[in-house]
Amino acid sequence: MSAGVPRKAAERAADLRAAIDKHNYHYYVEDAPAISDEEYDGLFHELEALERDYPELATQDSPTQRVGAAPAAGFAPVTHRLPMLSLNNAFTTDEAAAFDRRVREILRVDAVDYEVEPKFDGLAVSLTYERGAFTFGATRGDGFTGENVTANLRTIRAIPLKLPADGTLPSLLEIRGEVLMNKRDFERLNAAQAAKGERLFVNPRNAAAGGLRQLDPKMTAARGLTFVAYGVGQVDWGSRGRPPATQAAVMDFLAELRLPVARERAVVRGLDGVLAYYRGIGEKRDGLAYQIDGVVYKVNDLAQQERLGFVSRAPRFAVAHKFPAEEMPTEVLAVEVQVGRTGAITPVARLKPVFVGGVTVTNATLHNEDEVRRKDVRVGDTVIVRRAGDVIPEVVRVVVEKRPKGAREFSLPRKCPECGSAIVRLPDEAIARCTGGLVCPAQVKQALLHFASRRAMDIEGMGDKLVDQLVEGKVVRTAADLYKLGVAGLAELERMAEKSAANVVAAIDKSRRTTLARFIYALGIRHVGETTAKDLARHFGGLDALLDADEAALLDVHDVGPVLAQSIRQFFGEPHNREIIAQLRAAGVQWPEGAPQRAATGKLHGLTFVLTGTLPTLSREDAKELIESHGGKVAGSVSKKTNYLVAGDDPGSKLERAGELGVPVLDEQQLKATINRRRGG
Ligand code: IVH
Repeated sequence: MSAGVPRKAAERAADLRAAIDKHNYHYYVEDAPAISDEEYDGLFHELEALERDYPELATQDSPTQRVGAAPAAGFAPVTHRLPMLSLNNAFTTDEAAAFDRRVREILRVDAVDYEVEPKFDGLAVSLTYERGAFTFGATRGDGFTGENVTANLRTIRAIPLKLPADGTLPSLLEIRGEVLMNKRDFERLNAAQAAKGERLFVNPRNAAAGGLRQLDPKMTAARGLTFVAYGVGQVDWGSRGRPPATQAAVMDFLAELRLPVARERAVVRGLDGVLAYYRGIGEKRDGLAYQIDGVVYKVNDLAQQERLGFVSRAPRFAVAHKFPAEEMPTEVLAVEVQVGRTGAITPVARLKPVFVGGVTVTNATLHNEDEVRRKDVRVGDTVIVRRAGDVIPEVVRVVVEKRPKGAREFSLPRKCPECGSAIVRLPDEAIARCTGGLVCPAQVKQALLHFASRRAMDIEGMGDKLVDQLVEGKVVRTAADLYKLGVAGLAELERMAEKSAANVVAAIDKSRRTTLARFIYALGIRHVGETTAKDLARHFGGLDALLDADEAALLDVHDVGPVLAQSIRQFFGEPHNREIIAQLRAAGVQWPEGAPQRAATGKLHGLTFVLTGTLPTLSREDAKELIESHGGKVAGSVSKKTNYLVAGDDPGSKLERAGELGVPVLDEQQLKATINRRRGG
């Protein structure tokens, strides 16, 4: 410590830090506070005051320094030292039994000890401690590369910034575990959101995930997240006498280091043991502080774990035995239809709110007309609703015994509820569609939202509410109209201050400079996703070539088949679509145009041709262009690298050379057939 700090102050600060760390542990890890909140605050404020007087005392691991970092611009990618794998799932007792059987067969033993834990429903992170100090934390990401979220993890009080040192601490200790939001904190958060009139979070996991990815650590701190460890990554056990031999010993070691671990963890024997544990946790589930979606069984003996190893991205020594998706009865208040961007009509059941699978459900999709008929869902029915994980809630079945008298069978409306246009369902199609196109406000809204979305034109601030107002007020009818908006006009809209109006106008202006791929994607052509948009942009280089492309030319594009080609043709064949595109360009929407890059994706990609003699209909130049436009190369002389010789009348010496080298020879007819055969295949 520097000479400027009196010894007494330094000692007091150290004592305070130790006391606060201890009470954090009691409060956040053990959930058993040892002092009152006021006493805790007293200690905290005293330490803050000392550190204010002697800034040298405010070390990185001080509990006052959890929310230190300034907002970040983004999260840097990090490669995990050891990959963060996933678990295989077992959904039934049979699947759990199959897991145990396989383990026993491989190990050639009669019974296996398992370390068992709840499966926490949060998001996986990896924490690095170097010589006892928390230095680094990352999200799981794709398992190999995650994001550096150290500053945010530091704000989570269940995560110690410093581990108690007792001389046996590994020099490097990587902890794996789950960031969670307790159910209690989740309810508090949503109550606060509701009071502010803001969007509610669907479940604790989403709220936790969003919290951890805040750019400003203060925002993360405000979410009240917690953490629980379930294992280790890379560890240098070097300094310890004997590394642990079992998963249970690893967990005990983590608990000794005051890291939060599941209190419900246990070691059980064999299939009977795990199934009894599964039932026991199932009964306790609702009383737990956090959400779980199953239990995890891990072979306890680490040497056995190693013998079992991994299959692709999951260990063979562990399995997640999931709880069944929760089901609850509720009442159907109405069956309505929703109109999507392409006019697709989706029947939706409006439900009496019911809490199921960790969220309050008020709507369930009924997918399409046939599905409603099959399940025979009627207004007034009592239905069983199911929701698991992140999936859209669905109606499992109707409790027919409870059907009220006179409940009428569902039939699809014949007119679009949004615009009154006819709804048609083509033979062979499951989906009915509104034919209103651009006169249907529902379709226009969806189309505009898609146009403005992040991966399309990326117009910040162009959200649901604004689009609703713009369309309903008939201010905007097409994407091109967006570029005519002025600050004054926008500011007249409800809930739009001049400042936000100016922001929206600036965002629209910014979107004028884009890329061809984004622009194509933004148009919202049916079946054209981001990848296809990129392929089209690359292939044609410029928009005009795409606008003029006939079906055959479209089929030449990598991964474009007949359905897509037809959909693209239809879209650009529609005069009003062309008109909107012209207006967008006139409004200054622009992108750098490039040379067409058909070579990389064409049907003759990777093939080298040589031409010789006179072909019946194609000139030498035409033939060359034809081959190159499909990605092939044309060389001047036959060699071992030549794939085909294309020969016409009076071929000359090249034909002989091809014969010697065994290069196949095609005539013009066969060349064209090759191109056509390779199409789409
Ligand atoms: S052990 C090799 N234990 O579940 C992977 N994982 O579906 C070892 N999870 O990414 C993971 N609770 O984030 C383990 N008690 C627990 C868990 C748990 C939740 C998560 C973990 C993992 C995911 C796999």
